[in-house]
Amino acid sequence: MELFSDKPLPAVGVGSGITILAIESSCDDTSAAVCRDGKILSNIISSQTVHEKYGGVVPELASRAHLQNIVPVADTALRAAKCELSSVDAVAFTRAPGLIGSLLVGAQFAKSLALSLDKPLLAVHHMQAHVLANLIADEKPSFPFLCLTVSGGHTQIVQCESPIRMKVIGETIDDAAGEAFDKSAKLLGLPYPGGPLIDKYAATGNPERFQFPEPQIPGLNFSFSGVKTSILYFLKNAGTSNVFKEEFTATEAARKQFIAENLADICASIQNRIISILINKLKKAATENGINQICIAGGVSANSGLRKALKDTGAKMGWQTFIPAFEYCTDNAAMIAITAYYKYLEKDFADLSISPSARAEW
Ligand code: KG4
Ligand code: ZN
Repeated sequence: MELFSDKPLPAVGVGSGITILAIESSCDDTSAAVCRDGKILSNIISSQTVHEKYGGVVPELASRAHLQNIVPVADTALRAAKCELSSVDAVAFTRAPGLIGSLLVGAQFAKSLALSLDKPLLAVHHMQAHVLANLIADEKPSFPFLCLTVSGGHTQIVQCESPIRMKVIGETIDDAAGEAFDKSAKLLGLPYPGGPLIDKYAATGNPERFQFPEPQIPGLNFSFSGVKTSILYFLKNAGTSNVFKEEFTATEAARKQFIAENLADICASIQNRIISILINKLKKAATENGINQICIAGGVSANSGLRKALKDTGAKMGWQTFIPAFEYCTDNAAMIAITAYYKYLEKDFADLSISPSARAEW
């Protein structure tokens, strides 16, 4: 699937005095960033905590929190960048995918600002932006590169020929990697989002202790639903010899005690399997396409086990590997700004009538 138009390549990192204010509001983080000539000057992120007690993001609460946060967050980003509103050359926003109410807040804010400043508007695809977070650091991958994008809603291997020409060559057929982390954490009784907590507890655990099955999916696609089910059965049977069977005999008290006593090993084993699924497909994609510039992106790329596995695998496979700084892994406006910069060089501006979309194609 070709995702972007086949326009001429923009030169990477060419400066021309362009200042962009970018807004990201696709889910539960309100973020604004300022970039000049492809360099990030500020990146302010306000993470919503209101969802924690619900075990997941509540869309209506997310859009209300964005409404409250967006003006102070954008103002703080401009101040941190020492940038006057009058020196902004373009305003960018996340167009898709995401929660429609959350996207609407960012889109309306960006459109209104662009209109009042009489400056162009840039509409950015969130998944393209996650990939291009790898172009923020001074040390950038050269083209073509592969990016494993792993977030709460997506798991993709993207082949990038340029900042604007990229195609998805593999993706999940069911759950995303972040979902696999979060749903496993929920089964363990951990709060949302559970990915970072599994990462934390896994640090002291034995990743080989519990063996969850690796799915055999042909090609470059992923599947996490089988692993999720095996984790569910394992935890429902925790403390018994009946593991991985759909016949739940453990008492609630025994289950809780087993989980509490073995939390580090359980987390390390879950993390280990999710990572092996990801890394094995990445190896296959790199070998089949003869590409040795390998990046990761998205919220799950903040996972310490995945970061280490990428480096270790890269050393064995002769890859040059790239991982965005932590603040550019989870949702952030800096990645929207860098993507908008390349769109600006292409003069790929959006019409003010453009609407956000929950599930738009790239
Ligand atoms: O990219 P992102 O911030 O938002 C989406 O676009 O989905 O990704 C959020 C996902 C969540 O599933 C979260 O649990 C996961 O990234 N995540 C992690 C870690 N940090 C964030 N998963 C595992 N280990 C982490 N350290
Ligand atoms: Zn994201």
